[in-house]
Amino acid sequence: MTDDFQATFYLIASVCFIMALRGLSSPKTAQNGNWYGIIGMITAIGATVFSRDVNSYFLIFFGIAIGGTIGTIIARRIEMTALPQLVAAFHSLVGLAAVCVATSALFSPAAFGIGTVGHIQGVSLVEMSIGAAIGAITFTGSLVAFGKLQGLVNGTPLTFPGQHLLNAALAISVIGLTYFFVQSESYAIFAMIVVISFLLGFLLILPIGGADMPVIVSMLNSYSGWAAAGIGFTLNNHLLIITGALVGASGAILSYIMCKGMNRSIINVVLGGFGGETAVASGPAGAQADRSYKSGSADDASYILENAESVVIVPGYGMAVAQAQHALREMGDILKEKGIKVRYAIHPVAGRMPGHMNVLLAEANVPYEDVLELDEINRDFSQTDVAFVIGANDVTNPVAKTDPKSPIYGMPILDVENAKTVLFVKRTLNPGYSGVDNELFYRDNTMMLFGDAKKMCEEIVKAF
Ligand code: TAP
Repeated sequence: MTDDFQATFYLIASVCFIMALRGLSSPKTAQNGNWYGIIGMITAIGATVFSRDVNSYFLIFFGIAIGGTIGTIIARRIEMTALPQLVAAFHSLVGLAAVCVATSALFSPAAFGIGTVGHIQGVSLVEMSIGAAIGAITFTGSLVAFGKLQGLVNGTPLTFPGQHLLNAALAISVIGLTYFFVQSESYAIFAMIVVISFLLGFLLILPIGGADMPVIVSMLNSYSGWAAAGIGFTLNNHLLIITGALVGASGAILSYIMCKGMNRSIINVVLGGFGGETAVASGPAGAQADRSYKSGSADDASYILENAESVVIVPGYGMAVAQAQHALREMGDILKEKGIKVRYAIHPVAGRMPGHMNVLLAEANVPYEDVLELDEINRDFSQTDVAFVIGANDVTNPVAKTDPKSPIYGMPILDVENAKTVLFVKRTLNPGYSGVDNELFYRDNTMMLFGDAKKMCEEIVKAF
């Protein structure tokens, strides 16, 4: 294939990737978005494989076979709730790939068309250092994020005095070393840039608490995009530059959206120290055993729900863990058949990743028009008979409005407290991800329904 043809196919692939991102912005168009992504990737791989520059088809197909097999197995086995750590693990590989490409370019510049050993173009040396540094930070940072999300590393923020100063000093030394590397093309200096960046990746992510991890994964996603764009410059590959920039920009925008949903500044998240391990209490009484609360059974819940005129269902992380979406939809459908107005309220950061609840409800065929965002539904709670909160906690906690000292202060919440009755489906009185107790459990208009979310929905359906 000539270079012109290849450039045309790369352009087509880039357009497909842009259409994929556009499609993925709404559950209604997400399937089409996925198809655009698949077509774009096949076009990109095809244009690369049939390029004139390929020396060994064996290596390419061997790589595709190994990567494709591992990817397929993981995609089939992975639980939806474990997606954030899977994404973190994949990003670490993108970071490592950037370091490997930069290193190969340094050792074999002629193969990359950027000069000869000892005489590499200055601009390529800069690209190499930036790509390797971002890649190394992404690699170790993503490994720490994976460890924290998978529970292999303690989620508590690890902080020590002078941490930010140390990080700043390391970052400045990477910039200084890049200058000397461009002057000398020294292998030793390049190695120092990579090692310091590896260290920086660890140090940047260790102080960040578990609750902020999804934002950090999204930021690392952004870094991995910029690292890929860096590789694109080194390889002089326009598709990689465009795709890297798309990933970099979309990851950054996603981090911003998540921070907005939690009313936190990105700087505040990056500097860390928020949302470590939650205080764990056991049994229904949990951490607040001395306070009184009302609890009921599935029969009680079915009675209350059947006698309501309007019900708003608020799903959260617990619904995802229990995979309760199908049983929940069945419950909602029965209520609708009884003439009750049923809607679903989605908080922007409910669950553990953006759109988590929308995807699960769509999977269970809940009609899109019944699913409303926070801004669309919040005012309606005061005219709602029952708020049915299933596996959600932080996103309903009024302390976010009342206690400036609370770590979730300022986060917009779903005002379920304004409904006539609030039913909470969860297993205990334990706090949610932020570790903050929820005052609503002890209110007069609240009834706790202790149990697994899926089982509780099934029992309520039986009771109907
Ligand atoms: P959480 O506040 O984490 O509460 C989830 C609740 O589900 C827990 O209190 C838990 O209580 C319950 N639960 C767990 N397993 C269950 C099961 N099998 N059956 C029934 N209940 C179960 O969740 P949320 O309200 O969705 O809030 C999300 C949190 O994640 C927020 O703090 C948010 O800031 C944070 N976060 C989200 C994102 C995104 S993008 N979504 C990004 C960053 C941070 P029990 O243990 O008592 O059952």
